Amino acid sequence: MASHTNSTWGGRFSAGPAEAVAAYTDSQRYDRALWRQDIRASKAHARMLGRQGVITPDEADRIVEGLDAVADEIRAGTFVWKPALEDVHMNIESRLTELIGEAGKKLHTGRSRNDQVALTFRLFVADALDGWRKGLVALCGALARRAGEHRDDLLPGYTHLQPAQPVSLAQHLLAYAWMFRRDAGRLEDTLARVRISPLGAAALAGTTYPLDPQSVAEEVGFSGILANSMDAVSDRDFVLEALFDAATVMMHLSRLCEEIVLWANPAFGFVRLPDSFSTGSSIMPQKKNPDVAELMRGKTGRVYGALMGLLTVMKGLPLAYNRDMQEDKEGFLDADATVSASLAIMAAMLGELEFRVDRMRDACKAGFLNATELADYLVAHGLPFREAHHVTGQAVAAAEREGKSLEELTMAELQALSPRIGEDVYDVLQYAAAVRRRETPGGTGPRSVGYQLENFRQWLEDARAATSASAPPAARDAR
Ligand code: ARG
Repeated sequence: MASHTNSTWGGRFSAGPAEAVAAYTDSQRYDRALWRQDIRASKAHARMLGRQGVITPDEADRIVEGLDAVADEIRAGTFVWKPALEDVHMNIESRLTELIGEAGKKLHTGRSRNDQVALTFRLFVADALDGWRKGLVALCGALARRAGEHRDDLLPGYTHLQPAQPVSLAQHLLAYAWMFRRDAGRLEDTLARVRISPLGAAALAGTTYPLDPQSVAEEVGFSGILANSMDAVSDRDFVLEALFDAATVMMHLSRLCEEIVLWANPAFGFVRLPDSFSTGSSIMPQKKNPDVAELMRGKTGRVYGALMGLLTVMKGLPLAYNRDMQEDKEGFLDADATVSASLAIMAAMLGELEFRVDRMRDACKAGFLNATELADYLVAHGLPFREAHHVTGQAVAAAEREGKSLEELTMAELQALSPRIGEDVYDVLQYAAAVRRRETPGGTGPRSVGYQLENFRQWLEDARAATSASAPPAARDAR
């Protein structure tokens, strides 16, 4: 096998790794996606070196300009990525030195790839989380908008996937909006721990140069620096947390997908899928399949995989940096692509779903969804709840025998079960009344739903203002 020497660390090696080994350890083919963050971090490091007198101000300027020139080449697609240079960091540094000469070789002063890769990846993860947060806000907006359209439309609420009590479609959709809103909050919590700089740790023990790592942290928009150099270079909790957040987002999306799959089934018939989000069958002409929802449900698996994969990578590692940790990137890149696309597609699909509110209303009649109302009515008329439950059970059995719904039983049939039942029971048995009366905080009643919608309107306004204020993450292209 042919071999070549790596010029960056090749000093003590007489022959480079064989080609198969080089290909095996190469990460530039995927970690080039981190080029913007690597350059952002290196510019901050160079400026700090200049301020601290470790390099001259002129050298610092030339490095910063050179890095901008490298960025231009990458953006223009003229940059030549070299597998022999292993990763994004060494590709960029090597090109910098080609462009500006000797000064380029000073960029790495007081720094190691170990703290460099940790800072670069923290910047990348932070940008990704910002993007997911925007996607979650947009999805919550779509859910709240559809909920606002369906405050008065009823469908069966289920427990055990058995018809339980009627709820408003708004309440059902808002339940998902709350899940995704929690996800957005989780990302913010995670960001507080991602946005801390490891620079200054160098290889693992710190460095002898008079650095000012705090100023680098501030320049890249981080809140501070990690307190222990060995922890700084070997911590990947920030990736794990982000992946857990991603896994939870996908779990929530997957539940919503499952709901869409069920609702699109003719047995439910609660939604008609937009043509653009479904496919036909090559053999069965009557079919319209919810492929997009199914695929999104399926893609949840690979995001869980990324989380489990990295937990497993990390579990046996002694301090400090180990090359195993290079395996933190591909799973995250894949999870990022999956979460970003899934959020956007779900928001678009929701906007176009046609809710068949007539089918939903009819389904309420089929499952004795107003049985709880009858029990509550009997309690209001003096029967202890347990007895009311029993009498209602008898009423359901009687209705079932007659092939009727509860409100179709005659007054005579009802009074045979309990003399406490009067004409006013028919008002109580209306499905809309059942929803209207559930006004406990968070309930499906119209006032509670109105309060939730107002709460979302306010939150969406604040969240949109906050996300447009934060610098838009540079498009994560070049992957
Ligand atoms: N490409 C490596 C990674 O992603 C960074 C280099 C680590 N340092 C080293 N001495 N091999 O983790």
